Amino acid sequence: MAFFKKRSKSSSFSSGELQKTLHKNLEFTAREQYKLLRANLGFTLPEGQKCQIIGVTSSMRGEGKSTTSVNLSYVLAEDGKKVLLIDGDLRIPSIAKKMEMSSTPGLTDLLMGYDPGQFEAFRSKILDKWYILPAGELPPNPSELLGSRRMKVLLEALSEVFDYIVIDLPPVNIVSDALAVSSFISGMVVVVREDYTEKKELERCFRQLKLSNVNVLGCVMNEAKSGKGSYGKYKKYRYYKYYRYYSTYESESKKSKKSK
Ligand SMILES: Nc1ncnc2c1ncn2[C@@H]1O[C@H](COP(=O)(O)OP(=O)(O)OP(=O)(O)O)[C@@H](O)[C@H]1O
Ligand SMILES: [Mg+2]
Repeated sequence: MAFFKKRSKSSSFSSGELQKTLHKNLEFTAREQYKLLRANLGFTLPEGQKCQIIGVTSSMRGEGKSTTSVNLSYVLAEDGKKVLLIDGDLRIPSIAKKMEMSSTPGLTDLLMGYDPGQFEAFRSKILDKWYILPAGELPPNPSELLGSRRMKVLLEALSEVFDYIVIDLPPVNIVSDALAVSSFISGMVVVVREDYTEKKELERCFRQLKLSNVNVLGCVMNEAKSGKGSYGKYKKYRYYKYYRYYSTYESESKKSKKSK
């Protein structure tokens, strides 16, 4: 999803820059791509759920998970839905910094005791229906915490309040946190960064997701170049060329049917 001007791998945005980018300076094409992602998710998310819980992960660090989580949750809230963005990266959280807010209290505090009354504190100043929950105090055991009964109960309680919950998660090939929480979510979006993500890492990521029976909703191609043929090394995975969003799940299940 080529929503910023092309930058080098090592470049980084200042937090204020990203916040500005969201509601003011997001390029027209980028905005449209996110709206298309929102529409496509409508087709791939399981039907009949009161609240859709979407995990966002990738194979490695730095592929654009947090950026995608922020922008995806933003366009969902812009559409009038009540949306909660959770920083589920309890190792190297970045949402609070990106959104220029305090990193505590956050998810880990709510895991110790959830009071719906305290939730208004997490409403963003940008959109009325957009709530942002930072990571909170970093725990010694992120994976256990994300896969815990406490997490399940918290998400169930939050599902009563929100239409969508977007959880920014760490990368699958590095730690097991995204897999740990996967049984509590509706589906997972996998971020791939063009000219950055290694094919073998992506394959490993999908093997892990498949082994854990994760419902993969599709991929977001971050920092994609426009034009034909820019997806060369990922051709194996089917994509909606114009949407920069593609379903791997479908092609993987067809392949496994064939091999039976
Ligand atoms: N499309 C893009 N164009 C240019 N820069 C980008 C783009 N997407 C993300 N970035 C920048 O790349 C860096 C990494 O992005 P981000 O924090 O979203 O990745 P991440 O996958 O969440 O990283 P981590 O694995 O460390 O959590 C950030 O500095 C971000 O501003
Ligand atoms: Mg991140």
